[in-house]
Amino acid sequence: MTEIGSIRRPVVAGAGTMGVTLARIFAQHGYEVTLWNRRQSSLDRAKERIAGDLAARGLSEEEAALVMARLRYTTDYAVYEEADFVVENIAEDLEIKRAFFREVCQRISPTALLTTNTSGLRVTDVAQGVTHPQRFCGMHWWNPPDLMPLVEITKGAETGQEAAQAVYDLAVSLGKKPVIVRKDILGIIGNRLQYAVMREALHIMAEGAAGPEEIDAAMKYGPGFRYAVLGPLETADLGGVDIFQAVSDYLLPELNADTRSQVLHDLVDENRLGIKTGRGFYDYADGQGEAVRTRRDRLFQKLWEILKEE
Ligand SMILES: NC(=O)c1ccc[n+]([C@@H]2O[C@H](COP(=O)([O-])OP(=O)(O)OC[C@H]3O[C@@H](n4cnc5c(N)ncnc54)[C@H](O)[C@@H]3O)[C@@H](O)[C@H]2O)c1
Repeated sequence: MTEIGSIRRPVVAGAGTMGVTLARIFAQHGYEVTLWNRRQSSLDRAKERIAGDLAARGLSEEEAALVMARLRYTTDYAVYEEADFVVENIAEDLEIKRAFFREVCQRISPTALLTTNTSGLRVTDVAQGVTHPQRFCGMHWWNPPDLMPLVEITKGAETGQEAAQAVYDLAVSLGKKPVIVRKDILGIIGNRLQYAVMREALHIMAEGAAGPEEIDAAMKYGPGFRYAVLGPLETADLGGVDIFQAVSDYLLPELNADTRSQVLHDLVDENRLGIKTGRGFYDYADGQGEAVRTRRDRLFQKLWEILKEE
């Protein structure tokens, strides 16, 4: 089994939103990393994006050149012959991911670690056809992956504890706060919590009790502020489990249990997709979306400066 500390030839597969930043993260942490993509044009764009992102994150030209020198770009599957770690970030489609891993498994060493950054597919399903599923697990990063601390490492039905632990240790070495999830559950932990909140937010809005501004403010300055420091279960212990039991008895039956969101369907039908179309729950005319993204990144960085040593 590839052990942490012995990873020498990581390959990041897929040069889209996630893969490009993951390749940069590895390079910034001193790894000689290869970014693989099936098309060269995406790799050319990736190189430009990485250079721009390094400048945007405040690296000097000399520092950026050192990082850039640790990156290789290829469309050749032969790179997997030498790889000892792979994180896959290609299209969120089960058949495409399986076909990719079939190609990789024809070439890769049986001691290498294989991971998928799937957001929603079951790791066990993606692993079908993988020749050594005991060394395969989910490695789910959050976007933007250089600023979001969480990495969820999911064990598929056949994932070995040793492999999960090695990927956990790797994530720690990359400055992340990983968790190992013992069961292959859809949505893992983070998205299950996020969508429970989303469902209730949409319900409060649909009921006419509050609009987007009030709901977002209530989250940011209430539970969201708290959750940067305490998880929900720590919160219950601090507040008193008896209080949470009393409130849950009358509140849980009131909460929404819809399995489909009409509000989200309506917005999509109107092409109100958020900053990428200039309108979602809010308006982002005249490039305001980019300003929102920049503010988010600046505040994430500040928050992490405070929290990272805790
Ligand atoms: N974007 C996010 O917020 C986010 C967050 C966490 C995890 N993820 C997951 O990461 C993975 C990649 O997401 P993304 O947002 O970077 O996607 P993206 O669309 O930006 O990039 C997808 C990449 O897949 C490649 N690809 C498409 N079809 C392929 C094929 N048949 N064979 C090989 N490569 C192919 C494309 O060339 C592209 O480089 C997905 O599984 C996604 O669910 C995304």
